[in-house]
Amino acid sequence: MTQSHIRNFSIIAHVDHGKSTLADRMLEMTQTVADRKMQAQLLDSMDLERERGVTIKASAVRMMYKAKDGETYMINLIDTPGHVDFTYEVSRALQACEGALLVVDASQGIEAQTLTNVYLALEQDLEVLPVVNKIDLPAAQPDEVAQELENLIGTPAEEILRISAKSGIGVADVLELVVKEVPPPTGNEDAPARALVFDSHYDVYKGVVAYVRVVDGEFKPRDQFQLMATHAKFDPVEIGVFNPVMVPVESLKAGEVGYIATGLKTMQECRVGDTITLANKGAEKPLPGYKQVKPMVFAGIYPTDNDDYPELRDALEKLQLNDASLVYEPETSQALNFGFRVGFLGLFHMEIVQERLEREYDLDILATAPSVKYEVIKKDGTSIFIDSPAQMPDENVIAEVREPWMKIQIYTPQNYIGGIMDLVIKKRGEVVTTEYLDANRVILHYLMPLSEVIVDFYDRLKSISQGYASLDYQLDDYRADDLVKLDVLVNNEPIDALAMIVHRDHAYHKGQKLVSKLKELIPRQMFAVPVQAAVGKRVISRANISAMRKDVLAKCYGGDITRKKKLLEKQKKGKKRMKMVGAVEVPQEAFMALLSLD
Ligand code: GTP
Repeated sequence: MTQSHIRNFSIIAHVDHGKSTLADRMLEMTQTVADRKMQAQLLDSMDLERERGVTIKASAVRMMYKAKDGETYMINLIDTPGHVDFTYEVSRALQACEGALLVVDASQGIEAQTLTNVYLALEQDLEVLPVVNKIDLPAAQPDEVAQELENLIGTPAEEILRISAKSGIGVADVLELVVKEVPPPTGNEDAPARALVFDSHYDVYKGVVAYVRVVDGEFKPRDQFQLMATHAKFDPVEIGVFNPVMVPVESLKAGEVGYIATGLKTMQECRVGDTITLANKGAEKPLPGYKQVKPMVFAGIYPTDNDDYPELRDALEKLQLNDASLVYEPETSQALNFGFRVGFLGLFHMEIVQERLEREYDLDILATAPSVKYEVIKKDGTSIFIDSPAQMPDENVIAEVREPWMKIQIYTPQNYIGGIMDLVIKKRGEVVTTEYLDANRVILHYLMPLSEVIVDFYDRLKSISQGYASLDYQLDDYRADDLVKLDVLVNNEPIDALAMIVHRDHAYHKGQKLVSKLKELIPRQMFAVPVQAAVGKRVISRANISAMRKDVLAKCYGGDITRKKKLLEKQKKGKKRMKMVGAVEVPQEAFMALLSLD
């Protein structure tokens, strides 16, 4: 197809504003999928995604659309992940497009990720086309939201489409809008072939399947290709398009979107953001903007049962095939034995990985509280990065500890500003500016340590604002502060997996809270168990869990055997999440107690 008849676009939206639903309607209207085959939210292919209603991986679909001008257009819809941890994937997906539909919920208005996505789209010089969705809702305020959008990007409010993706109202106009307003691609058809990898997945038979936007030239299945950042060469297994299932084709030309099955065995060789070209007489320069994404949040992941270690290792290996941003290495904990230190893009990414390990791989795992990456400058002038409190060197060799600080944007109705400000200050944050978007809505710009963001900040923000505030953040820089390691001793033994790094001013308070929480969480044992919190050698808090004979059956007075069985069954289940630490049984909750100490 000639480039003049190709349109490549994304749908960008805050989580739950209706991106997938709109995509579904477009697929139906262009008969890309027959109705009876149409599964709700087809683009979110993973089970987990569907259940959580959140799009994790970007995907792409080719639709053929006969427009009102009588011409047929090839419309490629590139789906983007909606959550704050996946900004890099969003920006790569957007780079594969010329336009973006900006979907905003008529009952919610603009939110934090709406803004981030708009800025990302504008950075890529995309045509941003706003659409107000969910006009069927009783709480919809389409005119107000259209006005907010006019203020934000300048499209006159009266020209903004108002639709209901759910019922289908206005969706035909959206397709026309895409054809009219999204500019056609303008690649050089005669130049050496270049394609941007904007996503990928791993296939057992085809190896890494790269999702590509061809920018220049033409790719044919019999040529040999090369990745420009990693220099990996390969003979493609096949090339094709998503229609919406994978369909092989004989060529992918400038402007088109499709896939190249590379046959490569690891995601590391074919990363999102890299450029594919021909191995012979390929392009000289890669497409702009490749960067390696770095994990920001780290946690120890251990099998509850030590025997499951090989299964956990295999599962992580498999997960990484589909998620190049997931990094891990073996870790040994005195308390928890053999496990892995795993790095994530953010808290949300961590949650998804944990759930997948449990659900898809049927593993019982224990995760330690998340930590950030600290830089420790030693007195001898050397410095190290640590991503686990257990790696913190002895206090007397440390000159300085630095931690990552984030730029934070909070989008909220203005009546919650006071509460949010208090929360941010309590979390060591700093106010930068307050920006008024209209009479009621504001964007609060703050700086805050990441270590404070990953500890229940999001949940508290939501509860303070009754669910209205939304949050986005990016790394700002590393800053030094008075940070110390808080050790926890159970039965006089330090438990490495319970250690945390805290600000010295908060150490006493957090130590006390933690000790009293652990006293509640750790069940009574056959002997008395002291629990202590310490900074360096100084114990700052202490409690005793007194001894008890644990006889659950004592409660069943009579001889009802089934009842007894049930009770034992229940106790066994409860035990699943226990870990023997020395001579003491510690439940999973204890390791997460660090997350709510205020
Ligand atoms: P993420 O994948 O999490 O980013 O969400 P999304 O933006 O793709 O939202 P999705 O399409 O999953 O829609 C979220 C919810 O809103 C679903 O329950 C939809 O049924 C509902 N929804 C979407 N469009 C409409 C609409 O026009 N009207 C109404 N009433 N509900 C809608």
